[in-house]
Amino acid sequence: MKYRPADEHDIAAVTEVHVAAFPGFFLTSLGSRFLDEMYRGFLLHSSGIFLVAEEEGQIMGFAAGTSAPTSFFSDLRRRRFLSFLCYAFPALLRNPKVVFIKLFKAIFYRGDQPAGLNGGALLSSIGVSPAVVGKSVGQGLLTRFEHEALSRGQKFVYLTTDEVGNDRVNAFYRKNGYVIESRFNQHAGRAMFRYVKNI
Ligand SMILES: CC(C)(COP(=O)(O)OP(=O)(O)OC[C@H]1O[C@@H](n2cnc3c(N)ncnc32)[C@H](O)[C@@H]1OP(=O)(O)O)[C@@H](O)C(=O)NCCC(=O)NCCS
Repeated sequence: MKYRPADEHDIAAVTEVHVAAFPGFFLTSLGSRFLDEMYRGFLLHSSGIFLVAEEEGQIMGFAAGTSAPTSFFSDLRRRRFLSFLCYAFPALLRNPKVVFIKLFKAIFYRGDQPAGLNGGALLSSIGVSPAVVGKSVGQGLLTRFEHEALSRGQKFVYLTTDEVGNDRVNAFYRKNGYVIESRFNQHAGRAMFRYVKNI
């Protein structure tokens, strides 16, 4: 498996892996064009950290995040707000009430930074193709994400993930040295863990 920074040509394949790795998730329901735009954001912003795992020319996994969560999301909003809205439009028509509320929260997302901790890189999204799950590709991506964050002067990596019905993913982070910094409820009472790892 080869690990390298993502580029524009990887976007469609990353979106494909995302769709396969996150079935039934809200962002997946917004469609491929929305996801393409979202992942492109990690390429365009100077703070974006975006890595892919590739085997025989095929993208098998990705990790995307930012070393400057606050400015990343506000810049993305300012520059791409209309695009996000356009690409989410078909999903909005299908289920206006639910999609509007969640989309609003997604667009105005601020990065869920741990209170009292300054700096730190946010791992926003990590996924591997179902064909290679459990074969250390996730670990390979996570380690390289941490190295990249460290090389940009960050002292820790943080992320959020579901507390409930998500045991394997929680085990994955714990196994890789992440500790629960706090738990919080997202909209509709969705229980979340915030993990941190000093790097
Ligand atoms: C979570 C994920 C990135 C881990 O990547 P991976 O390459 O499968 O994980 P690794 O092979 O490096 O590590 C294996 C460990 O991950 C955990 N794990 C999580 N999901 C797993 C799965 N479906 N199958 C096997 N192991 C899984 C286990 O703790 C496993 O350790 P074990 O072999 O001792 O049981 C990947 O399974 C995935 O893409 N899942 C779907 C998307 C997702 O939920 N992403 C995280 C959102 S916060």
